[in-house]
Amino acid sequence: MTKRFRRLLALTLSPAILAGLEERRVGNIFQTVATPGDAVRQSAILVLSIAAGIFLVVATVAAYAIFRFRRRPGDDLTEPPQVYGSTQIEIAWTVIPLLIVFVLIGVTARVVAGVQDHPIPKDAIHATVVGHQWWWEIRYPDYGFTTANELHVPVSEKPGETPTVLRLQSMDVIHSFWVPQLAGKTDVIPNRENVMWIDPRETGIYFGNCAEYCGTQHAGMLLKVIVHQKAEFEAWVASQQQVAAEDASAAAGRATFESLACVNCHAIRDTPAQAGHTGRGKFGPDLTHVASRLTLASGVITNTPEHLREWIRDPQVAKPGNFMPAMQLTEQQIKDVAAYLETLK
Ligand code: CUA
Repeated sequence: MTKRFRRLLALTLSPAILAGLEERRVGNIFQTVATPGDAVRQSAILVLSIAAGIFLVVATVAAYAIFRFRRRPGDDLTEPPQVYGSTQIEIAWTVIPLLIVFVLIGVTARVVAGVQDHPIPKDAIHATVVGHQWWWEIRYPDYGFTTANELHVPVSEKPGETPTVLRLQSMDVIHSFWVPQLAGKTDVIPNRENVMWIDPRETGIYFGNCAEYCGTQHAGMLLKVIVHQKAEFEAWVASQQQVAAEDASAAAGRATFESLACVNCHAIRDTPAQAGHTGRGKFGPDLTHVASRLTLASGVITNTPEHLREWIRDPQVAKPGNFMPAMQLTEQQIKDVAAYLETLK
């Protein structure tokens, strides 16, 4: 067994990764619960039906030719008559595909324009989603806080009229924001802001992922949209605007955290950990309410105390290639820091 293979096997069997598998779910584009998603679903069904029709015609004709014209005992084996050119057939196989292509262009343009030109009401909720290698920074400029990887929105009571508007930016390379049950993919491009909106009409958790290859952990750049009842969403906003209450039992972990390089990348509001700004965003996820999130490492592992300790011990085990280094902490330091982060609810 090569060293590389053994390492791969160890990674594959690590409890962190096995626990994380549960999280790697992707929504179904045929079970949409938002207006842009519905439009994509309808056009997808149309395209699939046309493609299925073409497949049936081609497969039938091919099957007919295969069986009808096979060589049979007693056939004379000289070359059959060769027929060249048929204006009628050539016109047919040029015009019909052209018509099909124009129909598909028309349908696509209508869906894209319908979604992009949709009027955005003044009271819409705004979030800025910043793609990073390999996680999502989520800012709520109107509410004044930042979170990561889990986008919380209220359910749309009047679909189409009460959307959440998403401004998509990138910190580094091209990513793509995709939550199949809510909307089509929208690219997240450096030095450009793309705008999209969602209006989920059912509460629940919708799974998404980065849909543009962006490096080693592209597949580990998962995201969730958590759709709340309106009052529940407001309560969530209020709790995120607060900072977690001081907890005396976490003082040792807090001191350790603040004494280490953690603070260069991760912000915790109202503490000395303010994190280095790197232009459009922060280098690592804001941890002000890290304990309130469902997952760590952008959806790769569930957020349990055990996973948090494993993550701090060596982030490269659960998510090889990510930019958080193993900080070489002692077991006691790992325990303390994890205990501190657990208080950030
Ligand atoms: Cu980000 Cu793929």
